Amino acid sequence: MATSKEYGLGEHRFPRGWFMIAGADEATTQPAAVRFFGQDMVLYRGETGTPHLVEAYCPHMGAHLARNTTSYIVRDGEQVQGDSIRCPFHGWRFDGKGQCDDVPYSKFVPKAATLKTFPIVERAGIIWMWHDEEGQEPDYPLPDFGGHYGAPGWVQWKIDFMGDLDCHGIEIVDNMADFGHFIPIHGAKDFTYFANEFQDHVLHQFYSAGHRTLTAAEGDQLVLDTWYEGPGFLQSEMAGEYDSFIMIANTPIEDGRSRTWHALMVQVNDGSRPINDEDRAAALAYQEGSRLAFAQDVEIWQNKRACIAPLALPSDGPYGKVRLWYKQFYNPRADAGTFQKRVNGLVVTHDTRPGSKAA
Ligand code: FES
Ligand SMILES: [Fe+2]
Repeated sequence: MATSKEYGLGEHRFPRGWFMIAGADEATTQPAAVRFFGQDMVLYRGETGTPHLVEAYCPHMGAHLARNTTSYIVRDGEQVQGDSIRCPFHGWRFDGKGQCDDVPYSKFVPKAATLKTFPIVERAGIIWMWHDEEGQEPDYPLPDFGGHYGAPGWVQWKIDFMGDLDCHGIEIVDNMADFGHFIPIHGAKDFTYFANEFQDHVLHQFYSAGHRTLTAAEGDQLVLDTWYEGPGFLQSEMAGEYDSFIMIANTPIEDGRSRTWHALMVQVNDGSRPINDEDRAAALAYQEGSRLAFAQDVEIWQNKRACIAPLALPSDGPYGKVRLWYKQFYNPRADAGTFQKRVNGLVVTHDTRPGSKAA
């Protein structure tokens, strides 16, 4: 494991961006302890249905708001009321904005008693957090995941937790440039196209190749458009036997340690008939195939040493550019444009399509 500083990423230990922190079903009226970006936090869902993410430690005397099972506040089910959360220690309660709104034994409620809150959004069955070391509003929106989640004919994803890795996010994002690993790791064959396009905070990978088992006939190609919007999650539109949409998230827990998830939704019909159990089973089998493909990367990351400076060949793919692109999220927002200008554009690593120069 190596830290952001050891990779020379920039001024910040943690990147700016949208990050997955939990599946939506993990936010309940039973507050849960979570840890990301080197901070202990608590995730809960108000009785109104709105999820909240707050710092874990009570400003009164420092009790942990979620790591408690024996207090009478918890046993009596009094911890979440409306959108507020009550501390198990002396019962101080904090509203959805973090302001103390009740001290059970005092009419005076100090203004200074506030709990830090973190900006989150619930979308596509996932809780997303905006993280910014400069504490500013998002400079790019959370996407709508192709608009497929909940769309007619699409089976919604279930979330696969893929592990807490002693691996910095940069090594996970490196994969975007990594032309050389698809044949040895993933069983690709007959590559016809591999390219990356850098567009400000977005990084694309365009991929076209056959596969040992996933493509049916000789000459068939898996065609993927895969991209990062910011440093925290990959999206991929995959055309195949079924059209599908992949999401792979990596979120820093500590500097140099990442939590990873995978999810895939599948279009099982054109929306003209309801989704049945058979569709759901087919979609789950498809998701499992994709999960296993991602697990091939995860096994490498779980066991590798840190790679501060790749010994990369030009035909490996544009690692240097990917790492430069990634740095925009570790530096003051004012400098992001400078990094973007240096990398924006298309880099073609492999092109043997009919009519191309190398064909
Ligand atoms: S420590 Fe939370 S109410 Fe006292
Ligand atoms: Fe991979």
